[in-house]
Amino acid sequence: MKDSEARHHAAETWRRYPAAQQPDWPDEAKLRSVVRQLSLAPPLVFAAECDLLRRRMAAVARGEAMLLQGGDCAETFGQTTAQSIHGKLKTLLQMAVVLTHASALPVVKVGRMAGQYAKPRSSGEERRDGIVLPAYRGDAVNGLEFTAETRQPDPDRLRMMYEHSAITLNLIRALTTGGFADLRRVHTWNQGFVADSRSGERYERLAEEIDRSLAFMHACGVDTRGLDTAEFFVSHEGLLLEYEAALTRAEPGMDRPYATSGHMLWIGERTRDLDGAHVEYFSRVANPIAVKLGPAVSVDVVMGLLDRLDPNREPGRLTFVVRAGADRIRDVLPTLVEKLKAEGAQVCWVSDPMHGNTIAAASGHKTRRFDAILEEVRGFVEVHRELGSHPGGIHVELTGDDVTECVGGSNAILPEQLHQRYETACDPRLNHTQSLDLAFLLAEMYCDHADRAA
Ligand code: PEP
Ligand code: CO
Repeated sequence: MKDSEARHHAAETWRRYPAAQQPDWPDEAKLRSVVRQLSLAPPLVFAAECDLLRRRMAAVARGEAMLLQGGDCAETFGQTTAQSIHGKLKTLLQMAVVLTHASALPVVKVGRMAGQYAKPRSSGEERRDGIVLPAYRGDAVNGLEFTAETRQPDPDRLRMMYEHSAITLNLIRALTTGGFADLRRVHTWNQGFVADSRSGERYERLAEEIDRSLAFMHACGVDTRGLDTAEFFVSHEGLLLEYEAALTRAEPGMDRPYATSGHMLWIGERTRDLDGAHVEYFSRVANPIAVKLGPAVSVDVVMGLLDRLDPNREPGRLTFVVRAGADRIRDVLPTLVEKLKAEGAQVCWVSDPMHGNTIAAASGHKTRRFDAILEEVRGFVEVHRELGSHPGGIHVELTGDDVTECVGGSNAILPEQLHQRYETACDPRLNHTQSLDLAFLLAEMYCDHADRAA
């Protein structure tokens, strides 16, 4: 077998394992045709960018940087708009400024963007008024509208996923390198409804401080031009293996191929089976990989994931995203951290304070309490402080819009208000203000520690 064939083969071994959460595509011939087209399409990201992110994540693993990962639970094709992409980007940039300022650590910025179009579901079907249809699995598979036609999986949507990812990534690349992310424009990210909130005002004061510092550095002859671009990466759950395999590319001279659909991909709580196709596929590609860990995960499974996904114990390769729930995090996390430390593993630990804290409001809306989200992050940070390990960052669902999907925060969204702007296609997201609130409160946790350590 030639080298390139061997590498290509590496992206196909998953087919011998059971793949959870894959759609029942009704038209196999159409699926094969779309997958063939995708396998000939240009990559969305490049190997060297994935390697750069792996080096940045290695700094997180060593305790020298923080990860900020966020975006929609489910991106939708309809929301591939300049406003939506701008909104998420500026929210993440603002949060990163707040966190960098407090922790004095570089913040690695990763969007749940440009590819977050596929969703695992706890039930394959949805029932409404006696009618049962396939569950919505994300725009990459079917549509949200509750009709038999829209809920039918359509392989052509995989092609649309590629296109919408490319469009989104194009704007992200333009915004982060074309002046929008210039640190000398920190004020301009603080417009709209967030500016009137308590966190918005606090941010404005911080932005003034940054302005003064930059002016001071400039006056001292320091060249601040390097601050006019931001490094930003994209990530999504690597759920649909036909899509991921079709976009896997081998690079000459490299041992392992890369998933080129995004810089970092993660394996979800429902697909991290050690004997399953997802772990097999991700063990074969060279990207930085994250795995979600729910409250019931065993130490043995975590050790198994480490061995399969990071056999060489390469810092930055593997991130564990813990989503135990505010009431479980303090019980679940210590054993995992201690066991991995004893193994000499250098993984990144990240908190997803969203997915263990989802509740149903009286109105029937799926929601999350801001206080529960904060409490899980606090538990996560405290456990790490007690064990002397690094709380590597957060993974959150957010949007730059003024939605009413999570309750609480400085603007105190009430359960009765959820219906006002409940727009998510899947899980409830923090709105712009709540995201900034979280950044400031998390920043305080890091500041407290820096004060104590000093
Ligand atoms: C998600 O991140 O939207 C998700 C489904 O998470 P998890 O796999 O942790 O449930
Ligand atoms: Co979600």
